[in-house]
Amino acid sequence: MASIPWLLRVVVGSLLLIVTSVVFTFISPAADLQFRIHQPIDAPSFLTQIKFNLTNFNYEGECSKVFKSKKNNERDLLLLGGSFPEIKKWKESEPLVYGQLKMSQETIPNAKKIFVLIGDPPTSDFISNMNECGVEVVQANNVPQGNGVIIRFFAWLNYLKENKGKYDRVALSDIRDVFIFGDAFATFSKDEIYLSYECLINKRGNVECNDFRDTWNRGWISQFFGHDTAYQYAKNRTLIVNAGFTFGGYDKIVEYLTVLTESMNQKYFKYWGYDQALLSYLYTTRKLDFLNPKMAKCDQQFCFELRGGSRYDSKKKSLYVGNSECSPVIRHKLIVKGSAIRLT
Ligand SMILES: *[C@@H]1O[C@H](CO)[C@@H](O)[C@H](O)[C@H]1NC(C)=O
Ligand SMILES: *[C@@H]1O[C@H](CO)[C@@H](O)[C@H](O)[C@H]1NC(C)=O
Repeated sequence: MASIPWLLRVVVGSLLLIVTSVVFTFISPAADLQFRIHQPIDAPSFLTQIKFNLTNFNYEGECSKVFKSKKNNERDLLLLGGSFPEIKKWKESEPLVYGQLKMSQETIPNAKKIFVLIGDPPTSDFISNMNECGVEVVQANNVPQGNGVIIRFFAWLNYLKENKGKYDRVALSDIRDVFIFGDAFATFSKDEIYLSYECLINKRGNVECNDFRDTWNRGWISQFFGHDTAYQYAKNRTLIVNAGFTFGGYDKIVEYLTVLTESMNQKYFKYWGYDQALLSYLYTTRKLDFLNPKMAKCDQQFCFELRGGSRYDSKKKSLYVGNSECSPVIRHKLIVKGSAIRLT
């Protein structure tokens, strides 16, 4: 009899494994993009050639109010970074990355774009391809060993300190699956910093956000901050703060990166997910209050839209936020249900 709970655990465990791998297969491959792999690198972005027609995105009238600050200019910085331990993985996401960066060339043409490279480039043409997409590649130096997802925060901080005085506004961005449809920089000032929750707008027009009942994120908290904390977060429905796209003034971004990197425990540098768990932990324990961060949920300016929330007009090839007539500016991940758009 005593073996039944054990057996149950194995069965439940395997079921969970199956479910999570199904979820991952669903969200990870950019299946409908594979056919573009042979597109020449100097061609315009397939995103704006095939999927979206930016001239039809509605940023007029009421929908122009989101652009409350100065237009993107040479004192703005889109800061990317990472390492490439798995060439195969990079090859899979390469077309989408280049497509997104080229779209950014159209939408934030005047912002400086830098990729801080940790270790070796994934392919011999990586640097020239990135240049073709308007991105300058800078080698990271003086960074600790570890997973590129974690180490990029050190690399970014070094880069920003070395280039003090050059930038007013900075957006720290995942390399894959960030879509900039409009002038992202014009939506915030250098006195602000935005962190983001993981939200969507449901069919009824309400915003819903991911909390620590989520298996993956709760697992990370448990791994790095203990089971009790993870249990509390899940019980409290504490919202997850996403580490993949953070934007604000230069000074605030430097302070944010300083707190984050100084709080990192070296023994976790090699673990994917540590950055996000730590960020949520710091935010929840109010260590970031001094930055007075604005928490981006899901609106015209920004949304972490893993599970849908935009409407796609396939005739106009345009997107609209929730039930409104306004088009989105920044999307981190993008799934538009009931259409061909599944770009993450
Ligand atoms: C985009 O939309 C505009 C205006 O509706 C149209 O003139 C143009 O041909 C479209 N471009 C593409 C590539 O479909
Ligand atoms: C959970 O919520 C309770 C009640 O609001 C609060 O006292 C506690 O600090 C929270 N725990 C965590 C870990 O945030």
